[in-house]
Amino acid sequence: MSRASLDKDPHAVASMFDGVARRYDLTNTVLSLGRDRSWRRATRLALELRPGQRVLDLAAGTAVSTVELARSGAWCVAADFSVGMLAAGARRAVPKVAGDATRLPFADAVFDAVTISFGLRNVVDHTAGLREMARVTRPGGRLVVCEFSTPTVPVFATAYKEYLMRALPAVARAVSSNPEAYVYLAESIRAWPDQAALAEQIRAAGWSEVGWRNLTGGIVALHSARKPLE
Ligand SMILES: C[S@@+](CC[C@H](N)C(=O)[O-])C[C@H]1O[C@@H](n2cnc3c(N)ncnc32)[C@H](O)[C@@H]1O
Repeated sequence: MSRASLDKDPHAVASMFDGVARRYDLTNTVLSLGRDRSWRRATRLALELRPGQRVLDLAAGTAVSTVELARSGAWCVAADFSVGMLAAGARRAVPKVAGDATRLPFADAVFDAVTISFGLRNVVDHTAGLREMARVTRPGGRLVVCEFSTPTVPVFATAYKEYLMRALPAVARAVSSNPEAYVYLAESIRAWPDQAALAEQIRAAGWSEVGWRNLTGGIVALHSARKPLE
């Protein structure tokens, strides 16, 4: 599988994640120097969930993001198109559904909130994914996207780019079951729109009240939005 095909072919993306599933959680924590836990917690708090609400965690992978959301007392379902990732999270006691982010197996307006952590960048047509998330969210419901972004301090941005292109693939070679996937990760982070550009894409996909908050100096951004009341 070439990295170029990952840009265009959803099946190649799904099988790449099948290939990293076994050691996904560990690799993530090592590569993010343990920051992933606080990013997930910030995502849960940004959603302002209440017990009993219905929440879709899209591109949930091993459901590591879903169990954090479920701490709110809301009913949270994990959806992902990599059956290997879902299976690697089998021990996590949340409902799991196999499905593509651009053709979700849910009716219109059934969720109070939809969220996607470190997944939107991997969705081959991510603007179609944003429209599909709006379709399954009720009017007035929330969206939170947690995704790698552009560091806000230029000198830090330069150091971070070096980390992405040199250290990250080297560390991945030591801990991951598929190091090539982490070269793709580094390249996909560099190619991703910055905070303002992603906010514009979210607005264009049918969401209102779009804003964002930077975490860890902009390495990660939390974009939030609301589905317009008809
Ligand atoms: C980096 S993992 C993120 C997992 C989890 N949300 C987390 O926070 O660790 C990205 C996930 O996106 C999923 N994904 C990518 N494109 C998808 C699509 N079109 N539909 C559903 N899932 C998709 C992959 O299978 C993978 O499990």
